[in-house]
Amino acid sequence: MNDSDLDLRTIADRLSMKAALPFARGSSALFALFQAFANRHGTGEVILPALCCESVALAAMYAGLKPRFADVCGDTLCMTPETVGQLVNDSTRAVVIVHLFGVDANAAAFRELRRANPTVAFVEDIAHAVGGRTLCGKLLGSEMDYTLLSFAESKIIAGDGGILLFGERALDPDDVRSIIPASAPTKPPVVLAMNLRNVVHSLADLWRTSNDLELVTAFESLTPYFRDLIICSGGISDTEAVSDGFENLEDVRMIRYANYSLYRAGVQATHAKVVPLREGSTCWRCPVLFSTPQRARDTTTKLRSAGLHASNHYFPLNLLIGGEPKPIAEDSSSRIVNLWVEPRLPRNEIDAAIAIINRS
Ligand SMILES: Cc1ncc(COP(=O)(O)O)c(C=O)c1O
Repeated sequence: MNDSDLDLRTIADRLSMKAALPFARGSSALFALFQAFANRHGTGEVILPALCCESVALAAMYAGLKPRFADVCGDTLCMTPETVGQLVNDSTRAVVIVHLFGVDANAAAFRELRRANPTVAFVEDIAHAVGGRTLCGKLLGSEMDYTLLSFAESKIIAGDGGILLFGERALDPDDVRSIIPASAPTKPPVVLAMNLRNVVHSLADLWRTSNDLELVTAFESLTPYFRDLIICSGGISDTEAVSDGFENLEDVRMIRYANYSLYRAGVQATHAKVVPLREGSTCWRCPVLFSTPQRARDTTTKLRSAGLHASNHYFPLNLLIGGEPKPIAEDSSSRIVNLWVEPRLPRNEIDAAIAIINRS
């Protein structure tokens, strides 16, 4: 199968969007979109959550736009119209609303801000949340000017690549289609991906134990080296996996949510709280907030020693890339542990993780 075999029309229709373009990565789709804004309106700023994958910020930087980070809400770990509203100015080109870990960031609440800022593009990033629904039963990703989908073995839908959906107020897809140079690599180089991951994790670990803000300048000097990781040409590498992913999405969503619900019901300790996801959500990873950074670190070590998956996503991007302090993101980030909810995860691993958390 190649991109032309993928039913992009149906994917766009599902989310009531008018068009869909495939890319080699979600980050490449964002880069192309940001570059198209920069070409049209000049350089400026992109607002995104302080807790998010660093590749979203890198896509903005490589397009010549400055990332501005909005603080998140301590309950949802997602940014709010208030934290974004404080940052919007004449240079704002785009706002990227991320449904982190599958939590509904309530894109509808941004409608007023969007109406008041008709030249700003609002992007809904559903890389973690595809298939999830809002309180009103609408699919996440059907509310704003653009929607970003990302596919990978580690995400909700496998297949490697990304799709950018265009809504009513969006640019013409032809203005975005040809932005990525054909000379760019067709796949993100694996070694670069590992390097970026290792750099970010090392800086995060150093910050968590030292609180040293010099780490920002350390990352800044490295950003030019990761360009080939973000700007990739071509399309989705396994369109069959993407088609299957959409076909099985509701079944997968339900299993992931059922696994998440086991953690939610099982974690009863006063020192650990599972971040609430509403029924109807797609859970990417189950976020647990510990009472202290030390508890989160110790529990991660215990989970990993028992052979269980645990990660500490995400490192606050204002500390990695620069910007004003973001107190809630910085505090939450130091206390998050993410647990796996993959459909094939054995029940005994979920029970073992719950037992470790309750005892820790
Ligand atoms: C929330 C979010 N948005 C966008 C991306 C970028 O997607 P991709 O890995 O397809 O470039 C990621 C990457 O994992 C992500 O976590």
